[in-house]
Amino acid sequence: MRHIDRYVISSLELHLFFARIMKEHSLFLQAGFTPRDRDYAQKANHFLNQFEQVLHEAVRLSDCIVSPEVLSSGEVVTEFTLDAEIQTQRLSSIQIDTRITEMEKKLRPGSRSFISPDVVRGVRALNRTALRLLDGLIEFKENILRNVDRCRMFTMNYPLLIEHILREARLYRSCLCNYENGRDFDCQTLRELTSFWNRIMMEHAMFIRGLLDPSEEALFDTADEFARDFARLLEQARDKNDMTIAKESLAEAMKIRDFKAAGARGILECEIRSIILPLLADHVLREANHYIRLLHCES
Ligand SMILES: [Fe+2]
Ligand SMILES: [Fe+2]
Repeated sequence: MRHIDRYVISSLELHLFFARIMKEHSLFLQAGFTPRDRDYAQKANHFLNQFEQVLHEAVRLSDCIVSPEVLSSGEVVTEFTLDAEIQTQRLSSIQIDTRITEMEKKLRPGSRSFISPDVVRGVRALNRTALRLLDGLIEFKENILRNVDRCRMFTMNYPLLIEHILREARLYRSCLCNYENGRDFDCQTLRELTSFWNRIMMEHAMFIRGLLDPSEEALFDTADEFARDFARLLEQARDKNDMTIAKESLAEAMKIRDFKAAGARGILECEIRSIILPLLADHVLREANHYIRLLHCES
């Protein structure tokens, strides 16, 4: 494959996953502020709209270009995404452009033997826009975290969650920088990949645990177990080779994926008591699907 084709495909696949993740982080931030911090909520909404545009453009450029593995992985959209958006919009009155989700469901995998210069130009411009926005969003998240850590701000989002979404934004930026600077398309080594995402999966289990209603004992016991299992994987990584870690991580990631899918269904059907927005339930499920797809690529 030509280098330029890989550049286009890798960039678009990255945006399909991460631009949606960033727009949803912005929504979670917006929904979590108190009336005092109305200006912060507005700024979060600005990033929501901006990343929605990045995602929209990425979707427009991606048809018949991105790989079937990405489209079928459940990291772009899941069977729950549209319902989760509709419910989240109804519950929060924050506007979500669900047309993008409809478009994503119709995306076709790559079949073109030649990627046109127009598409290449579109991707270059999109990468530049995304990088600029990411700098702003990262600064914004850092600012919120600083305020929360110094007890100058109250938000419904855990400090660890703000730190967590900051790390995800930095990973998106560092991959994009790699692509733009013509470096390789694997932005993490296998070891970096597993240590990054095992920590993310561990923290998801911790967030789920903390956001479930205190009466949901059976569920939060399971969440606690997942947190412990991923902590163990992280701890034992030093003494194991990369392939062993990858294999064990894959098995664990598939288990937590099933737990998250059951959770998303339960929350959408109003069968689980929690303070988890439906879109957050779907969001963490997509991140597990993304991790699983990356691990499959490695094996
Ligand atoms: Fe996230
Ligand atoms: Fe996450």
